Amino acid sequence: MRILAVGDVVSDNGCRFLRKVLPGIKREYKIDLCVVNGENSHISNAITPESADFIFSVGADVITNGNHTFRRKEIEEYLEERDDIVRPANLLQSQFGKGYTVVDMGRCSVAVINLMGAAFTEGVSNPFECIDGILEEIGDEVKIILVDFHAEATGEKRAMGFYLDGRVSAIWGTHTHVQTSDECILPEGTGYITDLGMTGTFMSCLGVKPECVIERLKSGEKNRFEHIDGPCVLGGCIFDIDSNGVTTSVERILIKE
Ligand SMILES: [Fe+2]
Ligand SMILES: [Fe+2]
Repeated sequence: MRILAVGDVVSDNGCRFLRKVLPGIKREYKIDLCVVNGENSHISNAITPESADFIFSVGADVITNGNHTFRRKEIEEYLEERDDIVRPANLLQSQFGKGYTVVDMGRCSVAVINLMGAAFTEGVSNPFECIDGILEEIGDEVKIILVDFHAEATGEKRAMGFYLDGRVSAIWGTHTHVQTSDECILPEGTGYITDLGMTGTFMSCLGVKPECVIERLKSGEKNRFEHIDGPCVLGGCIFDIDSNGVTTSVERILIKE
């Protein structure tokens, strides 16, 4: 089973680039299941039913989310209604939607879990305790288990990787929008990368105009973030996973426009 995980899609420009390259990547690499982080896919830095529909329409099978999930109210019903979109399981405000889903792929089932880090973030419960509960709920029947760990701190992400080594098939980080080059197979067979990076404007801070971010950091005031257009980048990772749920190869991809 070949899985493609794609980092946070940012705003209209990120959506445009996703449409441009995702179908080709899926074809070229013969992808069986594609998981895309959509938390920033709407121009408002959030996710809406429209931006989620767009991501599905260009080839995502499952959408994961993050700290921006509940910024727009209209996503609540969408999260409730669909089984192919998840939000962080340990987000305390998560009255809507689900923290993981199990996709029926015919010959096997694949669980996709969305989890958030607790370091430098707000409103989340302990991710280590949360994932223990979820893995117990999923049980032994589902062999292929994937985790999008949406977190700020590289140390916490790597700790979670080792914590889940041999217990899940692959875990990748999202949220920082900057790709790391530490993709590997951990000792017990779990595929791992600290962060996939983003799908959005390359010459930016997180897909946002650098001057907006600089202004916020200098003044400490919460100004409005504006997205910036320009050539894009798509960051992702491809995991080959055998029928026992063990990762046999990991390939990081970074496609620039
Ligand atoms: Fe993000
Ligand atoms: Fe985020």
